Amino acid sequence: LRKKYLDLIGAASDEGALESLRVQAVGKKGEISLKMRELGKMSPEERQTAGPSLNALKDEINTALAAKKAALGDAALNERLQAEWLDVTLPGRTRRAGTIHPISQVTEEVTAIFADMGFAVAEGPQIDSDWYNFDALNIPGHHPARAEMDTFYMHRAEGDARPPHVLRTHTSPVQIRSMEKQGAPIRVIAPGRVYRADYDQTHTPMFNQIEGLAIDRDISMANLKWVLEEFFSAFFEVDGIKTRFRASHFPFTEPSAEVDIQCSWVDGQLRIGEGDDWMEVLGSGMVHPKVLQAAGVDPSQWQGFAFGMGIDRIAMLKYGIPDLRAFFDSDLRWLRHYGFAS
Ligand code: PHE
Repeated sequence: LRKKYLDLIGAASDEGALESLRVQAVGKKGEISLKMRELGKMSPEERQTAGPSLNALKDEINTALAAKKAALGDAALNERLQAEWLDVTLPGRTRRAGTIHPISQVTEEVTAIFADMGFAVAEGPQIDSDWYNFDALNIPGHHPARAEMDTFYMHRAEGDARPPHVLRTHTSPVQIRSMEKQGAPIRVIAPGRVYRADYDQTHTPMFNQIEGLAIDRDISMANLKWVLEEFFSAFFEVDGIKTRFRASHFPFTEPSAEVDIQCSWVDGQLRIGEGDDWMEVLGSGMVHPKVLQAAGVDPSQWQGFAFGMGIDRIAMLKYGIPDLRAFFDSDLRWLRHYGFAS
């Protein structure tokens, strides 16, 4: 009996087989249990030898069952560990999410800073009439500025009498449109795409500008300088950036100034907001009375400033990007390199 069960237990291949062996041997109606029940019918002498040996056998079987059960459990666990083995050091499969284009990010940064100074956002069409892009801005038909701007003209079929349209060459036509709509006083910025037939490391035929316009009773160049210095300090995250105003000429402002911001070159690296070099960043001036008039604002009552700057250009300066064209190549490696994509 002993050898039979110990052999069977040794050969059991899973916990189910082990359990039926337990029932068969030491269960209520098991072979050994039945034998123990027979002890009652035995003589005291017989019982004295059979009793202890049956008890010892029962203990031995139980111990063997428990040991085998533990062994089987370990084996099952090991098997699972083998089957479900997982290398947590393998690189994960990354899912890349889309991100906001750098130009859009910078546009948002810029509009947020001007919003803090009370400027609302205005918009105008990218295809605009000759009138808004030039005439209303005091650039009449013969004016050399039209040629200088490398304008893209919309083709009109012969006999089409509609006024000529262009791809806007700057965001300045939005000055006219917003003054027509809102009158004075007004404080707006107008970010958007503009177009000129030009292409090299710092010029693309499509690029982005941001126009600023502030008209009120007594706005002066001093207000313009303060607003720009506030803006550049916030944008480049340098306290008290200095600006330099250089006399210039635009048909739609009088006087006009080109504005430089303070910078320096350290080991060929550009640093904005320190040192005593200058970097040109925008055109500006006091809005020409003829421009106010063209937009229906009375120049004897109102005056103010306007400025226009290249968004792409200040983005290049802020992020140290050498080639403007890369902004429009949609090269994910480039976008990731500058931290603009995941
Ligand atoms: N429109 C000008 C340009 O594109 C910039 C400018 C805007 C200058 C407003 C003066 C005032 O170069």
